[in-house]
Amino acid sequence: MTTPSTIILKCSILLTVLLAFEARETIAYSFGYRVTVFIYNKVLTPTPTNITVRCKSKDDNLGDHTLMPGETYEFSFKPSHLPFKNTLFFCGFTWPGNPHRHYLDIYDQAHDHCKQCSWDIILEGGCFYDGKCVPWKSIEFMEAYNTSKWPGKKGSHELAYGHPLT
Ligand SMILES: *[C@@H]1O[C@H](CO)[C@@H](O)[C@H](O)[C@H]1NC(C)=O
Ligand SMILES: *[C@@H]1O[C@H](CO)[C@@H](O)[C@H](O)[C@H]1NC(C)=O
Repeated sequence: MTTPSTIILKCSILLTVLLAFEARETIAYSFGYRVTVFIYNKVLTPTPTNITVRCKSKDDNLGDHTLMPGETYEFSFKPSHLPFKNTLFFCGFTWPGNPHRHYLDIYDQAHDHCKQCSWDIILEGGCFYDGKCVPWKSIEFMEAYNTSKWPGKKGSHELAYGHPLT
């Protein structure tokens, strides 16, 4: 039997359920912490070099940013609060006179617990804020680069390196 009072009851139950879901989302969101990544251009050898940085995650492409020696690029985000979703940002680094894009995993939620995650970028890779340096995770030949200067190199570089995330 559908009386006006049953309808009101049903509506208010529905509304309560909706508000509960809404509140849960809001609480989860406001408790989610923010991570800031700092990328510092320390490519000083053999000569101080402008580097171009492009950082990406599965959902975001933060675009190209060129850093002069000593300059810092920073970005921030909220890591996933869902247990089955891992936030991973990787960055590609290029600079004049080198036909390769050099990759680092700049933030991997599964391993990195920093909230201020600071990297020094050097010719050989990156150094984390705790002083630990890692070599480039992968190096990729850039198709668009003037290939006529690098005859025969392309195939071997593509075989030697691959980046699973592009
Ligand atoms: C580095 O970038 C700055 C600013 O864009 C520019 O003035 C300078 O000429 C660049 N240096 C080199 C070596 O390309
Ligand atoms: C590519 O490199 C070759 C050989 O160094 C040069 O002659 C040519 O002008 C370059 N092309 C471009 C588009 O830079």
